[in-house]
Amino acid sequence: MSTSSTPWSQRFETGLHPVIADFNASIGFDMALLEYDLSGSQAHAKMLAQVGIISADEGQQLVDGLEKIRHEYRQGSFTPGVDEEDVHFAVERRLTELLGPLGKKLHTGRSRNDQVGTDTRLYLRSQIHSLRTLLKDFQRALLAHATDHVETLIPGYTHLQRAQPLSLAHHLLAYVDMAQRDYERLGDVAKRVNTCPLGAGALAGTTLPIDRQYTADQLGFERIYSNSLDAVSDRDFAIEFTGAASLIMVHLSRLAEEVIFWASEEFRFVTLTDSCSTGSSIMPQKKNPDVPELVRGKTGRVFGHLQGLLTMMKGLPLAYNKDLQEDKEALFDTVNTVHGCLQAMTILLHQGLEFRPQRLAVAVASDFSNATDVADYLTTKGVPFRDAYNLVGTVVKTSLAAGKLLKDLTLEEWQAIHPAFEGDIYDAIAPRQVVAARNSLGGTGFNQVRQALTQAQKLVESDG
Ligand code: ARG
Repeated sequence: MSTSSTPWSQRFETGLHPVIADFNASIGFDMALLEYDLSGSQAHAKMLAQVGIISADEGQQLVDGLEKIRHEYRQGSFTPGVDEEDVHFAVERRLTELLGPLGKKLHTGRSRNDQVGTDTRLYLRSQIHSLRTLLKDFQRALLAHATDHVETLIPGYTHLQRAQPLSLAHHLLAYVDMAQRDYERLGDVAKRVNTCPLGAGALAGTTLPIDRQYTADQLGFERIYSNSLDAVSDRDFAIEFTGAASLIMVHLSRLAEEVIFWASEEFRFVTLTDSCSTGSSIMPQKKNPDVPELVRGKTGRVFGHLQGLLTMMKGLPLAYNKDLQEDKEALFDTVNTVHGCLQAMTILLHQGLEFRPQRLAVAVASDFSNATDVADYLTTKGVPFRDAYNLVGTVVKTSLAAGKLLKDLTLEEWQAIHPAFEGDIYDAIAPRQVVAARNSLGGTGFNQVRQALTQAQKLVESDG
């Protein structure tokens, strides 16, 4: 049996079985942490010099050596393999090649347990920042359509049955609000991500006179963990993030689903442009909404990662356990998936679809979604709402039997149902009026929507 050489203690007589070395290693995926590992180690080296554990000159050499590795990585010449086990060992080994015995001083007063926790938080902090920027872009794309379509009408649904007509902008602004909650939620998660575990050591702290506040400040952390056991074994921040990411995916997926059916022949509310849709290999007439379908489909893996992380954590005794290495692929894939989906949906909104106002107008004018307004009309003429509701049921039944829409009933037919109906009933049930009249706070009335649009634009351009 050939064995792999190990980077740890002399206590081991033989190396790892090669399959086990492979099984154990995280280097295949944790290079995503490299730049954060280097920054974390630079802060640690400075701190060691600051408190006098190493000399100022040694501290500077370590910082420069780590910077050299960063350069090598960016050039593509730092490509550690499975023998290195993980990114942390890989950096230490390379540093020792570069600096000789001094490289071996870097790990003084820390453990890979507090180190990997620090790296993961630095990574996630930076990714959350990018995702929040992408959420704003997504909101801007929705706002651009909303601005164009305040007075475009679209059928509104409950139970996917025509319910009441809406301003299309109102419909789109609902997604802007969802994305706003996502933005705020990520900001809230970031507060807990931004807590520094470095200096907790393997689990119990260290005998050396380290300065945890110094490293935390160097790395821009807002707080430090107060308990060393919690510091090295907490992954709440990863679970919270994946939860927030799951909600982003819920929102994107709901919009994706709507776009998919809006683009179908049955609805024809939007046209898909060539830049974001694909053809069929066999049916030449087809244009497929691959982008929203993929977004809807990828939602599953993000939910899966949330479930995976929760399950991975639930039985872990304090403190570090190797199970925790499993947090990385879940986190990286969640970040990459949400990143890709936000970008794709934003591009889809900007260039991939066009609403069809005329087709929407026809849709809105050809149903009974103004029935509630007939009841409201009678209510304003003093008829109690429940009686009015029942009367309108009769109106709809009569119209259906006659093959007519409400707008096609004659005044005599209206008045035969109730004498309170007068000539102004026709205005009251015209789709535009039906929408305009819903001017209650947060409703779809055009005045409300214009105000909501202005507010949303302000919010998106602010830091809030
Ligand atoms: N690659 C490991 C991880 O991702 C680093 C920490 C290893 N710690 C240990 N005690 N074996 O979790």
